[in-house]
Amino acid sequence: MDHFQYRDGNLFAEDVDLREIAKEVGTPVYVYSSATLKRHFRVFQEAFDGLDALICFAVKANSNQAVLKTLAQEGSGADVVSGGELKRALLAGIPAQKIVFSGVGKTPDEMRDALKANIKQFNVESEAELEVLNAVAEGMGMIAPVSVRVNPDVDAKTHAKISTGKAENKFGIPWVRVSRVYERIAELSHLKAVGVDVHIGSQLTDLGPFEAAFKKVVDLVKNLRVQGHDIQHIDLGGGLGIPYDPEEETPPSPGAYGAMIGKVLGDLDCSIILEPGRLIAGNAGILLTSMLYEKESENKVFYILDAAMNDLSRPAMYDAYHDIIPVKEPSNVGSDQSNLVSADFVGPVCETGDTFAKSRTTSPMMAGDLAVIKSAGAYGAVMASTYNSRALIPEVLVSEDKFSVIRKRQSIEDLINLDQVPDWLAEE
Ligand code: LLP
Repeated sequence: MDHFQYRDGNLFAEDVDLREIAKEVGTPVYVYSSATLKRHFRVFQEAFDGLDALICFAVKANSNQAVLKTLAQEGSGADVVSGGELKRALLAGIPAQKIVFSGVGKTPDEMRDALKANIKQFNVESEAELEVLNAVAEGMGMIAPVSVRVNPDVDAKTHAKISTGKAENKFGIPWVRVSRVYERIAELSHLKAVGVDVHIGSQLTDLGPFEAAFKKVVDLVKNLRVQGHDIQHIDLGGGLGIPYDPEEETPPSPGAYGAMIGKVLGDLDCSIILEPGRLIAGNAGILLTSMLYEKESENKVFYILDAAMNDLSRPAMYDAYHDIIPVKEPSNVGSDQSNLVSADFVGPVCETGDTFAKSRTTSPMMAGDLAVIKSAGAYGAVMASTYNSRALIPEVLVSEDKFSVIRKRQSIEDLINLDQVPDWLAEE
């Protein structure tokens, strides 16, 4: 359940009328619900009651300071993949000992910052990275705690662009080399192997691939321990999907996911780390937009919105489905479908790919109407660009009857002022 519901004919975020936000902040704008963020975090955490589990929110899904602070106050840790995300997590008050650093291309500077902060662990993705991390740690007189991200060669059965656990993907260390890599860690004086890490993909809607990968990892931990490595925890990554299209997608509940993990772990005596991103933030946010124009072609109706692919790129990048609903509650609720129309929801960017939904059945909308693109709290604002010189849009956080701008709208001047004109082009 989320906290975006109709009340007296209009869509609210918790106790705030979205029309009020549109009026004060303008559109397009991302709106997040604190209560939904907290609820998702708590439901996920409860799914691991009885297990020694650390939940590290995947900062890449939504890195706004106010969102991270909300989760930090719930006890969340962070999974970061860059020095920038590390800084954001620390600034939001997430303790370093609850931060894991993932990613295939960490730079020595990023490693240094993470060592200085004293993070929980580095999830190492290649042999070359191990050598560099060892050298950086040696230079600082420190021991770096590492987990090796293994590639279990399991098909996550998700979109190809967000599948990471097949041998052909760039992620993790190939299964056949894992044992040798742990031997190498034992030889390196400034590394200590503390765990094993796996992440097979995102938006998984079936437990099967998770279970297959986790079983392999549990066997691996047992073997590594026999070989003398002191493996204390397993990082099981993120990836549990959410219902973008409730009629098409029925991902397993966090409870079912937690129960499966408990069963697969058995009596392994290992703590676990989980890195959910989408599950926490996805349905805790919406993109509030206004319709600019209606346009009819020969056999189609286009609803042209003021939001575009640069603001929310998921439909263009992954053909992702996002529900789109009007802020004014449609009158044709229930079984009366007679009033419905079919429309393409598109943005103003000059690309055919700037399409949020094709031939979508919807209640009719008019220019000036407000609409909401749902499930936009994860991989929305963080993936925005300024393509077509469209400035970055604001983000708003709602808590009960309060709302606050948590990132202000970028101005066109802010954007243009990032450019610099070389002297030789300066006017005489
Ligand atoms: N851990 C690692 C190592 C990851 O690479 C990811 C996501 C996560 C955790 C969090 O996964 P989640 O629980 O959010 O599924 N931009 C794409 C999603 C890319 C996911 C990348 N890695 C999208 O909009 O669908």
